[in-house]
Amino acid sequence: MRSKAHISSHPIHPMLVAFPIGLFITSLAFDAIGVSQGIPSLWSAGWYCILAGDIMAVLAAIPGAVDLFTTVPPQSSARSRGYRHALLNVLVLFLFIAVAAYRGGPAAAPDQTSFTLSAIGVFCLFISGWLGATLVYRNQIGVDHRFAGASKSRTVTVNDWNLPVCKDEDLAPGQLLLAVIQGARVVVGRCPDGLMAFDDHCTHKGGPLSDGALVGCTVQCPWHGSQFDVHSGTVVAGPAKDSLKTYDVQARDGQIYVFPKRTETEKAA
Ligand code: FES
Repeated sequence: MRSKAHISSHPIHPMLVAFPIGLFITSLAFDAIGVSQGIPSLWSAGWYCILAGDIMAVLAAIPGAVDLFTTVPPQSSARSRGYRHALLNVLVLFLFIAVAAYRGGPAAAPDQTSFTLSAIGVFCLFISGWLGATLVYRNQIGVDHRFAGASKSRTVTVNDWNLPVCKDEDLAPGQLLLAVIQGARVVVGRCPDGLMAFDDHCTHKGGPLSDGALVGCTVQCPWHGSQFDVHSGTVVAGPAKDSLKTYDVQARDGQIYVFPKRTETEKAA
């Protein structure tokens, strides 16, 4: 899923997190060497590293929060992982703010309490970093999938089911578009049998099917490879077990409209 906080499709959060990670680990190293070798300038540098790390952690948290709430698919395993990642980062930030405040300034030598808090902070940082890497390398958060001829905007937001989601010509065969219609995340696409629309939420662990691959009239989830028939929503291949929700889709006057599925009685009425 493409990050919303990006520079030319390069997500900002991963660019900034290198600073607090490096600064917090360096501060612990400076403190340890400074105290063991009796070099006050090193533990002073350690204190300043903590200060700079705290500032950079706050800055990194801003695009991170934007990605968490706008890019990570809701009600998915990645969203839960993102919450754990964010909570750990907040804990790390508070630990290092506490260390800086406890020492009171660069002149104070770190004592046992300072070392303990810093070591816990660095340990939590490793776990949080592991979760962050899983979000990127496994859940593909921030990855900008592209395919030839696709429109630049593959996500549209529409406030009413009666409004078109895109122009008919915007969807080439095999292409997918994510339409957020009154909060519902609907994937619209064109397969060899024509237009179709289905839920973005993979029924396995909530993977974003709009980032999946459409082959013929089957869509494959990018996370664990479940496959669904796009017209009926039935599972073609697991691990997913439950069918996808599908929608009615219509092309009218060169525009594409999507509607919640109507029952046969509703259609007849
Ligand atoms: S989330 Fe696991 S296959 Fe889609």
